[in-house]
Amino acid sequence: MVLGIESSCDETAAALVTEDRRILAQAIASQDDSHAPYGGVVPEIAARAHAERLTPLIERVLGEAGVSLSDCSAVAATAGPGLIGGVMVGLVTAKALAMASDRPLLAVNHLEGHALSPRLADPDLAFPYALLLVSGGHCQLLRIDGVGRYHRFATTIDDALGEAFDKTAKILGLGFPGGPAVERLAAQGDPRAVPLPRPLFGSSEPHFSFAGLKSAVLRTRDSGKHDPADIAASFQRAAIDCILDRTSRALEKMDDVTALVVAGGVAANAQVRKALKELAASRGLRFVAPPLALCTDNAAMIAWAGLEWLAKGRAGDPLDVAARPRWPLDPDAEPVRGAGVKG
Ligand code: KG4
Ligand code: ZN
Repeated sequence: MVLGIESSCDETAAALVTEDRRILAQAIASQDDSHAPYGGVVPEIAARAHAERLTPLIERVLGEAGVSLSDCSAVAATAGPGLIGGVMVGLVTAKALAMASDRPLLAVNHLEGHALSPRLADPDLAFPYALLLVSGGHCQLLRIDGVGRYHRFATTIDDALGEAFDKTAKILGLGFPGGPAVERLAAQGDPRAVPLPRPLFGSSEPHFSFAGLKSAVLRTRDSGKHDPADIAASFQRAAIDCILDRTSRALEKMDDVTALVVAGGVAANAQVRKALKELAASRGLRFVAPPLALCTDNAAMIAWAGLEWLAKGRAGDPLDVAARPRWPLDPDAEPVRGAGVKG
């Protein structure tokens, strides 16, 4: 059993997960209300909220599961990438708990948590698999060859997909967080009503780009010619066309994979899941998407990544391991033009 801690963005979370894939207890404190007035996550507010909430959350999950720290094999915490203040709160807490209970500390890459989370939900998901990782900060196509073996095929040269959903929500006045709000409004609109660009569609460059789509949404709203539901639906359709095109292209270079997998916050979107499921079927591939609660940020995925590493024999990390605001999953991936250095 591993205690997992997540605090890299605006979700404070703790969870207890066993090696046979049982989530014994988990708790997530969302900070949406604190950030909503600003229309986005304010790093300092996030860090303070993590500091206030994390310890009671950990006590709660231990209490719910009826276990103590000494029953755990290790403490796993997100050590990056993310907002540095929040990451430090989680990592320092994990270090203190590991030291006090004489258990190993596992410093987990948040993206690795997303990348391996489908295996927590699906025991049959074997390596290697193709992964579309779509969250608020990242948009990447990877081949997951094993624990710690990640090959990146594509990333975004500007905005992440979740960011594009959030900005579209802001432009349409839907509030924060934006992804679920855009999905709800899109369900009432016509996806063919508004002509919008599909950046890099068909390009030989493997990457993603969403900045031009977002600007087009802004111009369309300012024109006053279209219904907001039609704009939301057309935006979502354009975004899905882009990810289908890019994912198809990447799959051509991954003929040995067992499944197409989607993870990260945007994987909670039903239309995104449906479109990817059809793509996987057309290629004769299994499609795997974690349950919704494992798509958005949570600590069960961090505990699970810790368990995967323990199973591989990782002993634990030194207590002076540093928090990393940037931490690519594939350090050997070629740098891309634009702001894609994020990934
Ligand atoms: O993985 P996540 O919880 O946090 C990061 O690591 O970034 O992803 C959050 C992102 C946000 O941009 C949010 O708007 C988006 O996932 N998201 C969605 C949906 N639910 C969450 N985007 C589209 N449709 C959804 N239903
Ligand atoms: Zn995330």
